[in-house]
Amino acid sequence: MSMYSSEISGFYKLSIEERLKLIKEKVGLSDEETKILKNFGYFQPEQMDILIENVIASYQLPYSIACNFKVNGKDYLVPMVIEEPSVVAAASNVARMARKLGGFHSKKITQVMIGQVQIVNVKNMDDAVKNIEIHKEEIIRLANEKDPILIKLGGGVEDLEIRPIDTIKGPMIIVHLLVNVLDAMGANAVNTMAETVAPYLEELTDGKVYLRIISNLATHRMAKCKATFDKDMLGGAEVVEGIMNAYAFAKADIFRASTHNKGIMNGIIALTLATGNDTRAIEAGAHTYAALNGYSPLSTFDVDSNGNLVGELELPLALGIIGGLTKTHPLARVSLKILGIDNAEELAQVAVALGLCQNVAALRALASEGIQAGHMRLHKRKEQKKN
Ligand code: MEV
Repeated sequence: MSMYSSEISGFYKLSIEERLKLIKEKVGLSDEETKILKNFGYFQPEQMDILIENVIASYQLPYSIACNFKVNGKDYLVPMVIEEPSVVAAASNVARMARKLGGFHSKKITQVMIGQVQIVNVKNMDDAVKNIEIHKEEIIRLANEKDPILIKLGGGVEDLEIRPIDTIKGPMIIVHLLVNVLDAMGANAVNTMAETVAPYLEELTDGKVYLRIISNLATHRMAKCKATFDKDMLGGAEVVEGIMNAYAFAKADIFRASTHNKGIMNGIIALTLATGNDTRAIEAGAHTYAALNGYSPLSTFDVDSNGNLVGELELPLALGIIGGLTKTHPLARVSLKILGIDNAEELAQVAVALGLCQNVAALRALASEGIQAGHMRLHKRKEQKKN
């Protein structure tokens, strides 16, 4: 039996102070606990209150800097928001091993997102598909009219994909709007455009539209990078051999592939958070991409003729620097300043490098001393600091 009733109507209408008082009374929070909740840090409570509903506090995590990163010839200090011991130290350490052999090389990224429109109850699929094809330019024009600023800056819908699919509810046509969202993550612009063209698509197909929403499997926004990690700095040929065996394990075993990819996301999500981006969108995109041909590791590894480790990582990365929290979170702006970045492409190029680096750091530890040794070192340092 629960201690209280969770049924509260109009909770969102209360002020933060009133909500906190109500929760305090309901669950019996102490004055000490209430004091923690009242500490909004660098946020003004009013700022938090307009971000989402039912806010009563602000949640804080460590904000660290990973050092030694060189991506496409440029140096970066990389902000990371993460609570896990060793992660930042390991990334900094392994970035140095890549740096020795030229650093990370990230490919150019197009900032194109997919907006999906789902059309059901289509009587004649072939005619409907043809009609969409014939009126493609009109659909694109209609969508682009909705966001003149994006168009002025050089973005907007660039193309359409028409995908008839079979489902448990019968055949459907899925129309993809391919939208260049420039420096935004893009969800708002894409969703608005998908909603805008929906009635016209119904007309063209004589069908009914239900869903109109962005896809997080951003296969037109792929980030890709490569780096060579110095064999001796990694710990010698045996460690490289261990990493290659770890990679083989992940390729052959989905249970391992999941954890292998988790290690990659340790880095990418820490930077995603530090820059105020949507961590759920990034995770969803990464793992769906990993599952495209049966769930696999997102990275690949090889050994060069000198025995150095060569790693590559590729995944969709819908990271923005404008819109949402990227604009309003005070630390998100500071993160961009620390990185020295003023465009979304560069942010994703650093993020994919960080992901690869984090992956190598984890595999190196696993293939040598084990993951717990680093944790124990940190624990010891904490104890020493306390005494
Ligand atoms: C822990 O957060 C991440 C690792 O499990 C990743 C891996 O096993 O590759 C160490």
